Amino acid sequence: MLKPAVTMIGGGMIAHDQILPSLYQLQRMDLIGPVTVCARSPETLRSLADNAMIHQRAFPGHSFTPALDPYADVIAAMPPRQIVIAAVPDQIHYDVVMTALRHDQHVIAVKPLVLTIAHALEIERFAKSRNLFVGIEYHKRFDDRTLLARRRFREGMFGEFKLGTARLMEKWYYRRSNFQNWFTPENSDAFTYIGCHYVDFVAFVTGLRPTAVSVYGIMDRFPNGKEGYLWTDARVIWNNGACLNVQNTLSFPDEAPGSNTQGIMMYFSDGERGAWLEHSDQYRGIRYCYTRRMDSDGGTVFHEPSTEYFQYIDTGVPGLTCTGYGFRSIDYLIRAAIRVESAPAMDRAVVLQEIDDVGVLATPANSNFNEMVIEAGRLSIQNGGRLVVIEPGSPPSVRLD
Ligand SMILES: NC(=O)c1ccc[n+]([C@@H]2O[C@H](COP(=O)([O-])OP(=O)(O)OC[C@H]3O[C@@H](n4cnc5c(N)ncnc54)[C@H](O)[C@@H]3O)[C@@H](O)[C@H]2O)c1
Repeated sequence: MLKPAVTMIGGGMIAHDQILPSLYQLQRMDLIGPVTVCARSPETLRSLADNAMIHQRAFPGHSFTPALDPYADVIAAMPPRQIVIAAVPDQIHYDVVMTALRHDQHVIAVKPLVLTIAHALEIERFAKSRNLFVGIEYHKRFDDRTLLARRRFREGMFGEFKLGTARLMEKWYYRRSNFQNWFTPENSDAFTYIGCHYVDFVAFVTGLRPTAVSVYGIMDRFPNGKEGYLWTDARVIWNNGACLNVQNTLSFPDEAPGSNTQGIMMYFSDGERGAWLEHSDQYRGIRYCYTRRMDSDGGTVFHEPSTEYFQYIDTGVPGLTCTGYGFRSIDYLIRAAIRVESAPAMDRAVVLQEIDDVGVLATPANSNFNEMVIEAGRLSIQNGGRLVVIEPGSPPSVRLD
């Protein structure tokens, strides 16, 4: 079987918390070849390489090739039809993805794929023309609770979605991270960064599509003096008239006992009865109080860990094993890219179409409603929260109401 080389562009938080350890686990399973990580600063690569949890405790013997050259050069030096992972700040995704596609690479992008509909459509067209796979890492789709809600919804157990309210608040200490260098008003905001997960969730579970968005943002200051929309309240209207409210911040107290707080309530009706769904997505069922503060960013003495997203556990193999939907998502994406590449050249378009149609994985073709919401949301937040309408059409567009 093909064992693609994987080059990850970006070595920051998401690379550290989820992607690199997941790639090592796939190496252990003999699914992928060597891993390269490209970043701008030697400190980023050193800090990732020196991470004791990843490289000593979980995956002893595994390592990546560090690359400090510009990503375009690193990608150009790869043999064709391997895998590039874009794990850079949101506003650079488009260029990394297009650079990879131009060099005949399959691509996995962290969410959001890009910030505009035009870019999403261009990526879709270009990738199709070369039979290359592009997958977007919306890892909540691989949470069993999401897949269960989707199945029950499709079986008609809830009726029609009417109203919903979701929240995802990351910890305050994010403000002290590299975020302060890029999470500025022209690039991103709390809704674009993390609200998209719950927009994707509602679309994934219900099959509905967004038609209008308004995002009210409150500006706040990072420690380096830069400002960003660190508090957002979004309202997304769907094509059956339903309404989802999403609140996002970088404000969850550092001393609070988990890495974030997040969840969704959805209210439904079949015309005769109401129905309801509630997910507590940080999963607070475990409570630990340690003898000392955990040695990690945001580490606390009292801790409510979640086994849902990503944890390391000891299953008796040398090192530790990654569990959770964070790993399952990377696993699924990498297997999809391998499936496309393993098919005879004449069948690849069919395999790609099948992946689009099955719709478990987010691809540019089946999930560009996310870019519509992001483009609309960015326009709205920059206009004080005015409603922005998504105009269907070819291509779709957004406009202030
Ligand atoms: N829940 C999620 O799905 C989730 C969570 C976290 C981050 N993300 C996404 O991951 C992306 C990165 O976020 P992060 O938290 O890792 O941010 P980060 O700031 O911690 O890391 C960004 C990395 O990109 C690198 N980078 C920036 N410009 C580069 C360039 N020109 N060439 C090479 N490397 C470059 C930086 O060196 C850094 O290593 C964002 O798009 C974010 O939205 C998704």
